[in-house]
Amino acid sequence: MPRPTAVLPASRDAIVRAAAVIRAGGLVAFPTETVYGLGANALDAAAVGQIFQAKGRLATNPVIVHIAQRSALDGLVADVPKIADRLAAQFWPGPLTLVLPRGTAVPDIVTAGGPTVAVRAPAHPVAQELLRACDLPLAAPSANRSMCLSPTRAEHVLRGLDTRIDLILDGGPCSGGLESTVLDVTTDPPTLLRPGLIRLGDLEAVVGPIARKRSEGHVARSPGMMSRHYSPQTPIDFTADDGQERVAELLHQGLRVGWLTCGPVPGSNDSHLVRESLPNDPAGYAARLYDALHRLDAAGVNRIVLALPPEDDAWLAVHDRLSRMTPGIAHTTFAV
Ligand code: TXA
Ligand code: MG
Repeated sequence: MPRPTAVLPASRDAIVRAAAVIRAGGLVAFPTETVYGLGANALDAAAVGQIFQAKGRLATNPVIVHIAQRSALDGLVADVPKIADRLAAQFWPGPLTLVLPRGTAVPDIVTAGGPTVAVRAPAHPVAQELLRACDLPLAAPSANRSMCLSPTRAEHVLRGLDTRIDLILDGGPCSGGLESTVLDVTTDPPTLLRPGLIRLGDLEAVVGPIARKRSEGHVARSPGMMSRHYSPQTPIDFTADDGQERVAELLHQGLRVGWLTCGPVPGSNDSHLVRESLPNDPAGYAARLYDALHRLDAAGVNRIVLALPPEDDAWLAVHDRLSRMTPGIAHTTFAV
């Protein structure tokens, strides 16, 4: 149902109001340290159903349940494996999602009917305050239309979900900028389902070897591993070099081009060219990647040329997300 969407700076009063919206079965977008989430009462199947409606998300894709702290796991999960306790002690609150055996309180719609539930405790102070104010677990996928880029600012949420949700708590830009690491701890060894801000090496230092799952050629265990995900609206060309030649070619064809580089690159200034230069360290790049892509979408360029960052393991999560942005294809058609 279309509805007015309020955008409020995340003051104490606004958070109290947001908690009331959640308790009444409504939808609230809120900042986390990774990306903005679209929250509803995780124990209310109808409220969670509205998340799927608002996003145009397939019912086969389960959502993450957010809690304030480890002690709120009780009832949501059937069991907390020792390894999960060690990880939670080390990395919660923070950008680590653990896939655990599902408890009876969790409705089917949250888990897509599966035997596991994904849970994380976000570190962002607004997310923490909201969780405590409503005193409920929050089901919250990223606050974007399905198949589109995750939002890292309130304005990105509004652009995608205006009239589809009740309230957006504006807590400024997200510091992390990429979605959480998803680790399945119901398998032995645990399985990395989605690389993210917490590095594989840091997890392995706590729990030993972790299996890595590739999506290609598999039925994805985590639907977030599907390709064609997290994409900007504008078709995108990836280049192994700095992209200067490709940019020149496209400008020559009369296109308006967005050029996204890793570190500053000297080059022409042209009225048809919009430039974005990201930091050339993995955390700095991750923090600003989606924001830069949202800006290029909003600038109305015809094509984005993205100069690929280095290949080493520190860039795993960035490359994972870039690899889902199908080259040269306009993604609007998938955003249903
Ligand atoms: O950083 C994040 O994780 C953000 C913020 C809002 O917390 N949330 C987020 O949610 O990225 P979403 O729905 O966009 O991605 C959740 C990922 C999806 O790939 C989903 O398939 C996977 O987690 N997932 C959720 N429940 C699962 C489960 N029970 N088993 C395996 N994968 C699961
Ligand atoms: Mg998402």
